[in-house]
Amino acid sequence: MYRSHTCGQLRAEHIGGEVTLCGWVDTVRDHGGAVFVDLRDRYGKTQVVFGPPQGSELINQAKRLKSEDVVQAVGKVTARPEGTVNSSLATGQIELRASQFQLLNAGNNPPFTPGQDDLPSEDLRLKYRFLDLRRSEMQRTLMLRSQIIKGMRDYFEEHQFIDVETPILGRSTPEGARDYLVPSRVHAGKFYALPQSPQLYKQILMVAGYDRYVQVARCFRDEDLRADRQPEFTQLDMEMSFVDAEDVIGMIDGLVKRLAKSILGLDVALPLPRMTYDEAMERFGHDAPDLRFGMELIDCTDLAAESEFRIFRGTVESGGKVRGMNAAGAAPKYSRKDIDTLTEFVKHDFGAKGLAWFRVEPDGKLWSPIAKQFPDELLAKFAQRMHAAPGDLLLFVADSWPVTCKALYGLRKRLGAELKLYDPKTMHFSWVVEFPMFERDPEEDRWVAMHHPFTAPRKQDLASLMSDPGNCRAQAYDLVINGSEAGGGTIRIHDRQSQQDVFQLLGIDENSAKERFGFLLDALQFGAPPHGGIALGIDRFVMLFAGLDSIRDCIAFPKTQRATDLMTEAPGEVESKQLKELNIQIVRTQT
Ligand code: AMO
Ligand code: AMP
Repeated sequence: MYRSHTCGQLRAEHIGGEVTLCGWVDTVRDHGGAVFVDLRDRYGKTQVVFGPPQGSELINQAKRLKSEDVVQAVGKVTARPEGTVNSSLATGQIELRASQFQLLNAGNNPPFTPGQDDLPSEDLRLKYRFLDLRRSEMQRTLMLRSQIIKGMRDYFEEHQFIDVETPILGRSTPEGARDYLVPSRVHAGKFYALPQSPQLYKQILMVAGYDRYVQVARCFRDEDLRADRQPEFTQLDMEMSFVDAEDVIGMIDGLVKRLAKSILGLDVALPLPRMTYDEAMERFGHDAPDLRFGMELIDCTDLAAESEFRIFRGTVESGGKVRGMNAAGAAPKYSRKDIDTLTEFVKHDFGAKGLAWFRVEPDGKLWSPIAKQFPDELLAKFAQRMHAAPGDLLLFVADSWPVTCKALYGLRKRLGAELKLYDPKTMHFSWVVEFPMFERDPEEDRWVAMHHPFTAPRKQDLASLMSDPGNCRAQAYDLVINGSEAGGGTIRIHDRQSQQDVFQLLGIDENSAKERFGFLLDALQFGAPPHGGIALGIDRFVMLFAGLDSIRDCIAFPKTQRATDLMTEAPGEVESKQLKELNIQIVRTQT
């Protein structure tokens, strides 16, 4: 045995005992006659003292210790002298008086140390991830991740879910991203696709009668990366038979309540609040609204139509919308220059053409450089519609519906943070339901599935599926936490004909449907039960529960924004022999 205790274990009750600790040298403080070393492992830190009555040889050896050396120290646990107790350290009442130690391995001056105050650049952290993972913040997050996954597994096991693993090498499952492909050596010219999710396998498990399936599943999507997206991420994936949307939502409500309590000590009231997609877009401009604060979007298209202001009127005449929001009390906080910055923000980031604004004066009247283009009564109507009070700042975007949504959503998010409209520690859980079945792909001018092509429409929309697909709403539900999409699922189509209809709407003709999804169509005609499920983004759950901003801080070995692993340097070149075996030739095209 290398050690008798961990570096976070010793307390006053151990005083007088002879112990052996192992760990990394966090800091060395040389006080001349004695050397104080903080020894660290994932459990904590313990102060080890090398001093009299030990001889100078031991003390001199200890003086040579450096940060990140790996050390085994043997000695007696003693009470810290009066006045040196460290109440911020769990082991702060004691210290280890070392009688001998052994250098197990040298740290060799690493490029950064886990204990240093200023974080090095993210690239350096990812390149030397083993050093970065020694930091207590990273260790706390990964332990939290482990706890969350255990909580999820326990919950589903208690509810009779069966954990089934599904293939990594398979056929493409469309979730809307590009596939990662793996060439087959045995079948020249053919490829496996890494799963974007286990979607089709879990549906097949329902057809096979497994009734309740769960898996902590790795998913792969070759898409543009953001702070909350990784090319390789983990889902808590589940599926249930003989259920409707209520049942799935209810099951996840129970999980959320339990995790919030066990991990954060929060009491969450059930059922979690719900809002339809249409309402979310109208009130917040987004399908995953942050409900920790108000400042909702307000439609003023009808009032804008009455104005002489060319931009408002023109927008309405060309079928656009004029919507705005009231940043209550914000007028004194935003100078003309600050408003110019906000204007640039909505233009540059969301393609808006500008930002119209009004200050509410002490007498309640609206003031703006453009105010003279509005008659007084109309300004009063705007003020009333916007619930304006002195000191408020009213902001408007006139544009197409989608641009008003995007720009005002972005503005609301930014102002919510700048104006500190919510406590970053609060957690808000809610559902957005009844998403559209389809959305229009403007580039290809065709329908695409908003969730995935296996989603069932609401029963009342089934009849108009083919005649009016744009207005069909799905039996779909997204779990939203603090303005992030933390999970999404649907009730599935379970009859072959409806599935074929949806494929047809999506432009997948009968032959290619048979070729790509023949197994699913077969399964649906041989006794498929009604079924549905959901997948929760575990990395995002951890990020939100830990209050972190980057998903990369929640994954032990994440990829960069450019989908590379800086530690292993993946993706890498392969030998020409391997390519030959795979019948692959690299043709470099100029970009
Ligand atoms: P969906 O595509 O909505 O649904 O994914 C479910 C949840 O997974 C998380 N997520 C991601 N997390 C990190 N990086 C990514 N690139 C990424 N993409 C998605 C999100 C999301 O809500 N098969 C369906 C589920 C179902 O219908 O049951 C699916 O995968 O939190
Ligand atoms: P202009 O007449 O272009 O100088 O614009 C006058 C004001 O209207 C400026 O504050 C612009 O930012 C704003 N503005 C311009 N286009 C729009 C728009 N589409 N929606 C809202 N405000 C706009």
